[in-house]
Amino acid sequence: MAEAPHGTITLNDGRSMPRLGLGVWQTPAGEAARIMREAVAAGYRAVDTASAYNNEEGVGEGLAGTDVFLTTKLWNADQGYDATLRAFDASAARLGRPSVDLYLIHWPAPKKDLFVDSWKALVRLREEGRAGSIGVSNFNADHIARIVGETGVTPAVNQIELHPRFQQRALREVHERLGIATESWSPLGRGALLDDPALAEIARKHGKTAAQVVIRWHLDEGLIVIPKTVNPERLRENIDVWDFAVDGDDRARIAKLDSADGRTGPDPMTATF
Ligand SMILES: NC(=O)c1ccc[n+]([C@@H]2O[C@H](COP(=O)([O-])OP(=O)(O)OC[C@H]3O[C@@H](n4cnc5c(N)ncnc54)[C@H](OP(=O)(O)O)[C@@H]3O)[C@@H](O)[C@H]2O)c1
Repeated sequence: MAEAPHGTITLNDGRSMPRLGLGVWQTPAGEAARIMREAVAAGYRAVDTASAYNNEEGVGEGLAGTDVFLTTKLWNADQGYDATLRAFDASAARLGRPSVDLYLIHWPAPKKDLFVDSWKALVRLREEGRAGSIGVSNFNADHIARIVGETGVTPAVNQIELHPRFQQRALREVHERLGIATESWSPLGRGALLDDPALAEIARKHGKTAAQVVIRWHLDEGLIVIPKTVNPERLRENIDVWDFAVDGDDRARIAKLDSADGRTGPDPMTATF
């Protein structure tokens, strides 16, 4: 995959995707349409939702008539070939559109052992043009090797927990080798990491906020980043990151924040939902 201008990345299927989007996990269903309209006005060109976020209807309503790059995800209970096709239809109906730009398997759910069949359904959805691109989320190197080995189709994206306290260097190397784009979920560490003194200092140096420094760090690391906010001021703040760059000193300081136990979310290998 190659770097493209104007904040987009070219995926391994040749399609382009904005590198900065809005996450909507925990965005209330009743507010989603209004927040989408505010996000579009603020300049967002990508949104990340999921069947499990229970806000696809509002997201679809608020984005109707726009060309915002829309991602949604297959929930674990819907894994399996036929169930995946049915779940996609249900998501598309809630979103009010026949196709999405990116469809992801939300979690590997290894105990179910259905992710290969689910992946085969995603390949069909892409062939039918209903999913522009297809990918996975929370997959490790073994899960990726299995779906590629059994179908010959490499995911365009793996969306994984990734932020300065959990930098995922090993898995990112696997992605790099296979041409998979890495998309960072909980890119702000769910807000908790923004009090870090090193980030506060870097932010002061650039006249930006800690959130802006972290978002810019993701972009400079070649990642796709989807910070979530329901706050109109933060919507604008989180996208106002193109007028500075994180320098070598900053990067070295942020590299030191990485921690093997820095996860804020569930471990995909042991998650039981
Ligand atoms: N694939 C997966 O399994 C998975 C898992 C988790 C998340 N995700 C995706 O990734 C997206 C982002 O992750 P996330 O929602 O977990 O966490 P996040 O984006 O790291 O952090 C969101 C939190 O930070 C706060 N925040 C946002 N901007 C801020 C700013 N400028 N200053 C201070 N605080 C700020 C938000 O509060 P306010 O809203 O009140 O501003 C919210 O509490 C999700 O929305 C979802 O789309 C995917």
